[in-house]
Amino acid sequence: MKGIVLAGGSGTRLYPATLAVNKQLLPVYDKPMIYYPLSALMLAGIRDILLIASPEFLDSYRRLLGDGSDHGLSLSYAIQEKPEGIAQALVIGREFVGDGRVALVLGDNIFFSANLGERLKAVASREAGATIFAYQVEDPQRYGVVELDAAGRPTAIVEKPEKPRSDWAVTGLYFYDNAVLDIAAALKPSTRGEFEITDVNRAYLERGELSVEKLGRGAAWLDTGTHDSLLEASEFVRALQHRQGLAIACLEEIAFENGFIDLAALEARGRLFEKTAYGRYLLRLVDAQRAT
Ligand code: G1P
Repeated sequence: MKGIVLAGGSGTRLYPATLAVNKQLLPVYDKPMIYYPLSALMLAGIRDILLIASPEFLDSYRRLLGDGSDHGLSLSYAIQEKPEGIAQALVIGREFVGDGRVALVLGDNIFFSANLGERLKAVASREAGATIFAYQVEDPQRYGVVELDAAGRPTAIVEKPEKPRSDWAVTGLYFYDNAVLDIAAALKPSTRGEFEITDVNRAYLERGELSVEKLGRGAAWLDTGTHDSLLEASEFVRALQHRQGLAIACLEEIAFENGFIDLAALEARGRLFEKTAYGRYLLRLVDAQRAT
């Protein structure tokens, strides 16, 4: 299965912080925001990844992530000329996806949950249909919203409803079979002029092929859309990392755990960042590994 990270958008809600820097490159506590969604794909076991960004920021991503080999990935890049909607990523990525399945994640979505890796790997192994993740929020009108029946099956999905009939927001992580490429290619822009991912998901719902995984209590899906929520996300990551001494979205750790990189590569990255807690964390992992 392949993966796509969409680092689109113009970040106007974070001006002036995002006048010269792409939103998804801003730090969330100790690492760039893009690390978090990238970690979700890696936790699902995905190594072949396409990063889509706007033309002016593509070079920054190349500088940050290169060809992916630091993290045991195969990374390629593509441009989204204008922010015309999430579903466009599946049109831009058509050739990259080829004839297999694909997971799409938004570059500003941060997930935290117990056993996330196991859950994502299980979802990634489903051969057919689509799987989305839903999270209960206080302000569902800001998101795609999914209505569920008593058994947890989806009955309707609406983009930013004025009067939401459910408080289950659809998060920015989507798993699709290959049919998604034709579904996305046939979309018409919505009234806000975007190719809506919600329309893609509704097409799967109408085929009876949409699964919804609830991220319940104990899970966090963090917002980074405003200055306050961005700071709160940093505080959340900092609090958990300090308390447990375990890193969230540490790409090298996940790469090592998944067997994408070896111990020598892990150590090299630790040395590179030696002056930071992030680097020392990697070196501690190396020591612990050598001690076993
Ligand atoms: C987009 C999607 C929406 C989804 C959200 C998740 O919203 O359109 O369905 O709930 O991402 O982050 P947008 O970022 O366009 O406001």
